[in-house]
Amino acid sequence: MAPQAGGSSLKPDSSLEDLTIDNLTPHVIRMSTRVDDARVKYLTTKLIQHLHDFVRDVQLQTDEWEVAWQFLTKVGQTCTPERQEFVLLSDVLGISALVDAINSKQTLEATESSVLGPFFNDAAHLFENGQSITSNEVAGEPMFIRGTILDTAGKPIEKALVDIWETDGNGFYDMQDSEYSGPDCRGKFYSDHNGKFHLKAVKPVDYPIPNDGPVGTILSIFDRDCRRPAHVHYMITHPSYEKLVTALYLRESEFINKDPVFGAKLGLVVDLIWSEDAALAEAYQVPLFERDISNEKRQGFWLLDRDFVLVPKQSKEGRKTHD
Ligand SMILES: [Fe+2]
Repeated sequence: MAPQAGGSSLKPDSSLEDLTIDNLTPHVIRMSTRVDDARVKYLTTKLIQHLHDFVRDVQLQTDEWEVAWQFLTKVGQTCTPERQEFVLLSDVLGISALVDAINSKQTLEATESSVLGPFFNDAAHLFENGQSITSNEVAGEPMFIRGTILDTAGKPIEKALVDIWETDGNGFYDMQDSEYSGPDCRGKFYSDHNGKFHLKAVKPVDYPIPNDGPVGTILSIFDRDCRRPAHVHYMITHPSYEKLVTALYLRESEFINKDPVFGAKLGLVVDLIWSEDAALAEAYQVPLFERDISNEKRQGFWLLDRDFVLVPKQSKEGRKTHD
């Protein structure tokens, strides 16, 4: 008898399954979850399951899948050390806001969180209360910011570190404009023994998220605006309390209802106060500017007055490893 070509190595592998639309998913999950870490196993299982379910559900076509991976390729190619297009994609799809909402340690009394955004910079200088976070050349209408850091019982929290950042009056963060030689429109302050902090700044304005890349393209396909409503970012930390990352959004912004990254929430919307408080302006050398109010020229400044409530540090919950 002539020897069989290739010997026994060509015998069919009896463990090879006939992969079909119905059994491919459990097969891929089985092959991809031979790991000890229960959380990694759980995340991988659910990810494959949901992705496959989507493909089956919509009956994804080959040309559509090509468009999808070509889009993701462009997103990757747009990333640089200064620009993270994948984070932007997560932002505009609401993933960042959802992760923030799931992870924020909130109670009914506590101040709501909001997305961190890409413009936080830990290199911001530490200031004394009352100082200005803007250099002299910064464009924008003068604004005085003040507030109190409280616990959920209404007791002031001393020595909370309040890190604040915002755009200038032209809608740029310092890191977006080469005119700025260092941190500007950002600064850190400690709350005093009454839990209070106060500083000079400028009124922030609406600004566009980067829209010259693939994420900007899908925003225009979706007929969505790329401009964020004017806001001031806050990150408040204290060793005994949960970190609060949030922002206050100006009600007057025409984009307040269509924030492209879904950070603006009802509980974080504020009305700026027009102040003509000469004693306050004098005490902190707040520059005044002129506005027409009811056909009368008035001298004053903007006042952003808002308290924040922190929740006590909580023990870490175990991460979900099964349904
Ligand atoms: Fe921002």
